[in-house]
Amino acid sequence: MLNKIGIIGGGAIGGVLVQECAVRKLARNVGFVDPAPFVDPNAPADKQAVANKQSIAGGKALDIREGLPIINSDINFVTSKDYSALKGAELVISTAGVPRKARPDGTFPTREELLKTNLSISKSVAYGIKEYCPDAIIINVANPLDAIVFTLDEILKPSKKKIMGMAGALDSTRYRYFVAEAANVSVDNVSAMVLGGHGPTMVPIRSSCRLAGIPVEKFLPSEKLDAIEKRTRDAGGEVVGLLGVGSAFVSTAWAVLEMAEAIIYDKRKIIPTCVYLDGQYGVNGLFVGVPVILGKNGIEEIIELDLTPAEKVLLAKSAEAVRETCEEAHTMLKSL
Ligand code: LAC
Repeated sequence: MLNKIGIIGGGAIGGVLVQECAVRKLARNVGFVDPAPFVDPNAPADKQAVANKQSIAGGKALDIREGLPIINSDINFVTSKDYSALKGAELVISTAGVPRKARPDGTFPTREELLKTNLSISKSVAYGIKEYCPDAIIINVANPLDAIVFTLDEILKPSKKKIMGMAGALDSTRYRYFVAEAANVSVDNVSAMVLGGHGPTMVPIRSSCRLAGIPVEKFLPSEKLDAIEKRTRDAGGEVVGLLGVGSAFVSTAWAVLEMAEAIIYDKRKIIPTCVYLDGQYGVNGLFVGVPVILGKNGIEEIIELDLTPAEKVLLAKSAEAVRETCEEAHTMLKSL
């Protein structure tokens, strides 16, 4: 159990995260931050007074606190509309950003199209972390995932072991689920990894997909696997298209918690994670999803897999796509 975990963002993902922190007793204290509802400085004074008293984080935390006796959980919550509730957190999970929403015509923006809005939110997140918990391990969830991690790193310059993004855990659980469903076996049996950027170029690694240790090709024909891998790459959008009001949030929160628990309990669990690469997989100076060992210090070790030549090419392409978005973010950041 940690002394304090910080959760930034009280939207759908943040809401599941704080709830699970209480259910799983992950920390004695949860610092929960969300600036909403905003106070409009041009609104009449009485309206401003109402908005000043309201707090998404405060409301969600109170709802959970009042249920704690039922689940026997003595967790303390501190909430704020600024970043002060993060004070002293050892692990911070940032979900701060707007999600992808379906447009009226049913199409939806790519994760990259969210860049500008989420970049300016992430800038304030970085300054909040810098002020209240500069030594925390940071897991980012906001999209475009890889570019936001890059930006947080650019502003905060923490130890590279302590800053990471959650994408591979979610993309991999999706891949595992689709394989289990198609092969008609328990999800427990399927291990698989998705590497690269968290976008359409992500790379499901078929060569490491196993069912109870047996190569996946033994169970499913290659055309079926092609279809599953395509569905995995598009899986976030499939949920956005169905929901119409936002993106996947339960599996997303569980995926972050898989990483958080690996760190909190020093599990040394291998999880594909968006981390800083310094030559590994031929990538330099970028945050890209690769398998790592997560433990009490954050990123304990980066694992270099023996990829097939085709997978190597796809991973290089994905890293290139990440580089382009990061360069765009780097330029945009200067004007924000
Ligand atoms: C997804 C978003 C959360 O993949 O990135 O669903």
